[in-house]
Amino acid sequence: MSAVGTLSHVFPMGARLNEAGALCVGGCDVRDLAREFGTPAYVYAEDDMRARAQGFMAAFAERAERFQVVYASKAFPCTAAYRLFAEEGLHCDVASGGELHLALAGGFAAERLYMHGNNKSEAELRYAVEQGVGHIVADSFDELERLSRLAPGQRVLLRVTPGIKASTHTYISTGQVDSKFGFGLDDVPRAIEAAADLDLRGLHAHIGSQIFELEPFERLAEVLTALGDYPLLNLGGGLGIAYSYDDEPPSVEEFADALLRNAPDGVTVLSEPGRALVGNAGVTLYTVGTVKEIPGVRTYVAVDGGMSDNLRPMLYGARYEAEIADRFGGGTRCTVAGMHCESGDILVEDADLDDPRPGDLLVIPATGAYGHSMANNYNAVPRPPVVFCKDGDARLVVRRETYDDLTLRDVL
Ligand code: LLP
Repeated sequence: MSAVGTLSHVFPMGARLNEAGALCVGGCDVRDLAREFGTPAYVYAEDDMRARAQGFMAAFAERAERFQVVYASKAFPCTAAYRLFAEEGLHCDVASGGELHLALAGGFAAERLYMHGNNKSEAELRYAVEQGVGHIVADSFDELERLSRLAPGQRVLLRVTPGIKASTHTYISTGQVDSKFGFGLDDVPRAIEAAADLDLRGLHAHIGSQIFELEPFERLAEVLTALGDYPLLNLGGGLGIAYSYDDEPPSVEEFADALLRNAPDGVTVLSEPGRALVGNAGVTLYTVGTVKEIPGVRTYVAVDGGMSDNLRPMLYGARYEAEIADRFGGGTRCTVAGMHCESGDILVEDADLDDPRPGDLLVIPATGAYGHSMANNYNAVPRPPVVFCKDGDARLVVRRETYDDLTLRDVL
């Protein structure tokens, strides 16, 4: 299926093709954005993120008396995004001292934060406690000991490995017994004892990311409820999103139904979406530099970014779509390659493009989650800017790195 006519659901809400056939995101023609901000660039539709946050809040409000939607900020830890989700009334999950720093800089109130991590350092724990982080999600016996010493009375959740395996890539599967995260079910009673000097408020579990099946979510509440009565239950696990035109993830309503089906009354249920709030809100713009046709083999279309701005194809074999930004559709089967010194630096294996040429603007949708956050400086490539678009206005929220940024930390 191509995205011509009505734009596919992999693109941000409200995205459309204008009279010239060019993609508009948040009312902005991406050709203008490329001229103003250069390429590669991460472009987000601000309204998409707000609408999805409101969609989660509404879906839970209709089905649960008490709930919190907790933005899993590792998906897109950018101060402007923290600000936006704080404004929408979400809570927030931070998984390191650095994410905590960004969340506070973005304006999140510390008491609305949950701090995760399987190996938080003593310095990170101290920082969290000093800042008044609402809850720390304790992950191990060593950490319970450390926290009891550093901050007796601190509000904590216990991270539990619920023994539920959802079908997703093994690198992003977290609920199975063999996991570096959390307490196995058999260890929970001992962990509760070890938390005696802390204020144990509830349990946390996470069964993985990019999940389309709903049944594992239904089981999660049952497994956690069997471990005791607590005011808070964090039923974590990432609702999957559409990366390719054929992907049909469940709706947020179906997801909330499954998650809450077996949740006990009176408990505050937490859901921790990351990519489902930001993934489809963002696209990446690239400029095509070279087109190499190998007759009978394939056509490589090389762009000015790659594994430094989107590691997911290489890390997980993740599939994406690509289009020429002002000529959607088309029948030239191409491999979209990055510019890095690795043969495996391929962004999209099989993209049908319309006669790609050097200078064309190429867009890859659904890059809003884990693109910016996993970006790196391989080959000393400066990381791209982040641009938020709304009602035809574009604002830079993260500037492009410069060559000078690349030497900033070097000590001669
Ligand atoms: N909560 C916890 C405890 C998590 O470990 C994660 C993801 C999330 C929430 C958010 O999951 P989401 O809703 O975004 O799927 N870098 C990978 C994903 C690794 C996710 C690790 N934890 C990717 O690019 O797919």
